[in-house]
Amino acid sequence: MKKVKELFNGKAKTVYSTEDKDKLILLFRNDTSAFDGEKIEQLDRKGMVNNRFNAFIMEKLSEAGVPTHHERILSDQESLVKCLEMLPIECVVRNIASGSLVRRLGIEDGLELNPPTFEFFLKNDELHDPMINDYHIISFNWASQDEIDKMKSLTFKVNKVLQKLFLDAGMLLVDYKLEFGRFNGQLYLGDEFTPDGCRLWDVETRKKLDKDRFRQGLGGVVEAYEEVAHRLGVELS
Ligand code: CDP
Repeated sequence: MKKVKELFNGKAKTVYSTEDKDKLILLFRNDTSAFDGEKIEQLDRKGMVNNRFNAFIMEKLSEAGVPTHHERILSDQESLVKCLEMLPIECVVRNIASGSLVRRLGIEDGLELNPPTFEFFLKNDELHDPMINDYHIISFNWASQDEIDKMKSLTFKVNKVLQKLFLDAGMLLVDYKLEFGRFNGQLYLGDEFTPDGCRLWDVETRKKLDKDRFRQGLGGVVEAYEEVAHRLGVELS
């Protein structure tokens, strides 16, 4: 499958159309951004690591019954996916308090959340992705009630599968963000699941193995992503 036209150039991925109107190609670039694109750097190998890591996770989720847009890897940095009509919503599940939850509610960083909590955010960089609730989604017609229910149940299903996957490899899945879209009237998991969009801590030392290393200038960003991939048995080039 060949790239036909660039449709969208995001912060870390570029999206291309293909000869098949139902399929897109995602190019995972080395660009790494934080703070709504204020901090941007090129990190060698990150595109390849994230592409291969994302494919591994999407395949695990698909095997567990989560419908995903992922079709197959095409090259080191490219994957073929279904062309979804994306909802402008981010779904976040948190197992441990960190990041914006700590800043917003004054909660202690590292506090275990039992049960885990769920948040919706509007995908809008200019507005800094504000937090929204179910009523906003219905009033502004961003998704239906049925889609809201599906986003919640699928995001928690992902939690069940991935918490175990990571824990078995010595890591805590602290939190993560998912995005969904429509295809033939059904909801599918879109976008990506990589250490760019989740928090992962070593279970013993609580060492950060995710994009917080970049946000906080801790260094060793790609090395940490490669360690996560290695622990899970993801094959890298
Ligand atoms: O990233 P930040 O601390 O500002 O926000 P958060 O609400 O604590 O993020 C929760 C989780 O969602 C983290 O794992 C983020 O990496 C991820 N996230 C993301 O991937 N993209 C966003 N636009 C916002 C959050």
